[in-house]
Amino acid sequence: MTAGIQPVSENPGGEVATPRHVAIIMDGNGRWASQRGLPRSAGHKRGAEAVREAITGAVKAGVGYLTLYAFSSENWNRPADEVMDLMGLLKLYLSREIRSLDKQGIRLRVIGRRSRLSRDINEMIDKAEEMTRDNRRMTLVIALSYGSRDEIIDAARAIATAVVEGRESIEAIDEARFESALSTHGLPDPDLIIRTSGEQRLSNFLLWQAAYSEFLFLDTLWPDFTEETFAAAIEEFQGRDRRFGARP
Ligand code: IPE
Ligand code: IPE
Ligand code: MG
Repeated sequence: MTAGIQPVSENPGGEVATPRHVAIIMDGNGRWASQRGLPRSAGHKRGAEAVREAITGAVKAGVGYLTLYAFSSENWNRPADEVMDLMGLLKLYLSREIRSLDKQGIRLRVIGRRSRLSRDINEMIDKAEEMTRDNRRMTLVIALSYGSRDEIIDAARAIATAVVEGRESIEAIDEARFESALSTHGLPDPDLIIRTSGEQRLSNFLLWQAAYSEFLFLDTLWPDFTEETFAAAIEEFQGRDRRFGARP
């Protein structure tokens, strides 16, 4: 598998190819709930259901990798009861959905600071990754307790340590080596990054990997995201002209 900046090639029919990797910043659960006079937790609950829609949409579109930003390193700064709600939902999701993901031929991979997650969640993740490791239909990457700056710092530290210990030379540090030290090692860069809720920012998501990603900002709030929303996003992507700096 090749990683890094990869132009999406046109297929022989002249039709633009499906993105290999789609990443989604699932935002707007709180606003969805407050618009209905409900507690934020109700928005998160509906948001977890929308995850199923995104996965089905991605499988139907033939996407190889789907990355979902579920909890950022900065989300730890939210009130304790909200963090607890989100962790509870995560456990519920993992316990209920893993078998179905496995049946659909989906491989699960989690990226982010695992050390900040509870022991039982870590055990569930280990089990799920192990159970689905041979699945090839699609890889679902869940970014949990994830922050891109953390990830880049960890990579820099790992490489610096190897250099200081004399195992690697400074000259050998290139894009491929740096990529290999990121938590996303081996994954192609995202072709398309979608953010719901109308916000237009990355919020510390895939800063290195997004070098040549296409962005799609939708006003839809995450709990309202459906398979059809995903299909429309793919169609929009297929109309984009990607240049990778190479064409005038
Ligand atoms: C996204 O919804 C879920 C997480 C960030 C965990 P928000 O909780 O950020 O919802 P808004 O942005 O307040 O509407
Ligand atoms: C980004 O959403 C993180 C996730 C969707 C998991 P936030 O709601 O945390 O981002 P900001 O605070 O609006 O930038
Ligand atoms: Mg938000």
